[in-house]
Amino acid sequence: MKNLFDYTTIKNMKLKNRFFKAAVWEELATVDGHMTDELFHIYEELAKGGIGTIFTGYAHVEKDEQPNPGMMGIYDDSFIAEYKKLTDRVHSHGANLIMQLAYGGSRTNLNPPSPVIWGPSAVENETTGIVPVEMSKENIKYLIKSFGKAAGRVKQAGFDGVEIHAAHGYLLSQFLCPHYNTRTDEYGGNIENRARIILEIYHEIRKTVENSFPIFIKINSEDFMEDGLTSEESIIVSKMLEEAGIDGIEVSGGNDSSPNVIKNNLGAARTKVVLSKDRESYFKEHAARLAKIVSIPVILTGGNRHIEVMNEILRNTNIAYFGLGRPMISEPDLINQWAKSDYKAPKCVSCNQCFELYGRRCILNQKK
Ligand SMILES: Cc1cc2nc3c(=O)[nH]c(=O)nc-3n(C[C@H](O)[C@H](O)[C@H](O)COP(=O)(O)O)c2cc1C
Ligand code: SF4
Repeated sequence: MKNLFDYTTIKNMKLKNRFFKAAVWEELATVDGHMTDELFHIYEELAKGGIGTIFTGYAHVEKDEQPNPGMMGIYDDSFIAEYKKLTDRVHSHGANLIMQLAYGGSRTNLNPPSPVIWGPSAVENETTGIVPVEMSKENIKYLIKSFGKAAGRVKQAGFDGVEIHAAHGYLLSQFLCPHYNTRTDEYGGNIENRARIILEIYHEIRKTVENSFPIFIKINSEDFMEDGLTSEESIIVSKMLEEAGIDGIEVSGGNDSSPNVIKNNLGAARTKVVLSKDRESYFKEHAARLAKIVSIPVILTGGNRHIEVMNEILRNTNIAYFGLGRPMISEPDLINQWAKSDYKAPKCVSCNQCFELYGRRCILNQKK
């Protein structure tokens, strides 16, 4: 019988359990994206705390573009040495580290925003009010190369894999979304065209890293907005990526470029998760459907809270892994605690106060 503490492998990567730390932007890097002592500390604590595999917070592939301040950078070779130290430290505790790569676009919280704001089309972002510049084909080619070069650095720095962030209403998620992508060329229109940039990024990354190096994607199960990516379309994109050779799909959901998604609690980090166990693991229906269709690993992220709920999903579906975001902010050693007792309830109450606190700390851990 499958178990959350099973030892598994994905390509060259050995995983000591089925838990992934979901990407959490900490706002602790320097203004130009370099590591700080606090960031080293956070990742080391996570690794010590028993998690099998860690996705970093989203890292920017272009120097002058970041959707949030204090993000980690990966836009030039100056990062390789410091990330080598980071991967060495994480590996010394038996955990894997995967870097998440992102481009923000008009869904930016940086104030003032990055100087150049690209979008699939010049459609006003309903959350930020920003009208981006429609990307030319040259811009698209340039960005694809940036992702590829960034992934090469990730590999050189000793990370165990790389993840493309195509969820939550950032640029690649906007390409998938008909509301934000009104292009009439081969990058817009049907879902195959809207997914094209992501497929091309995947192929560029694969050219840069060998076949044994795992590449993941984080994608919305659906956008939960009018004219948004649907669950059926998300499955089509996932299938295309599987056929192209991607190694794992992390399922999330909610397009934060839609204010209704935020207002109606339909985003990736939902509140009120702990009111009942039915509310947990809130993208499980889509992820279970996807996991039946594809034969690569599906990672379910969003609202995973209790061992018994995850065990039931693990045993009754083909979902292979579970991503944990906020519970690992409040308790970086949660997995070690679970290894001792299945019954330990996580401390996180999904209040989302960590979005407001410096360093994305948990409000429950603040000193009085
Ligand atoms: C403070 C904070 C920062 C986040 N930063 C990222 C990020 O950099 N990249 C990403 O894909 N998701 C990010 N997320 C979303 C999480 O990865 C995850 O999808 C979401 O929190 C749901 O999982 P949870 O219920 O276990 O927290 C962030 C979430 C929080 C709370
Ligand atoms: S502040 Fe703490 S309890 Fe609230 S969501 Fe964040 S991690 Fe969970």
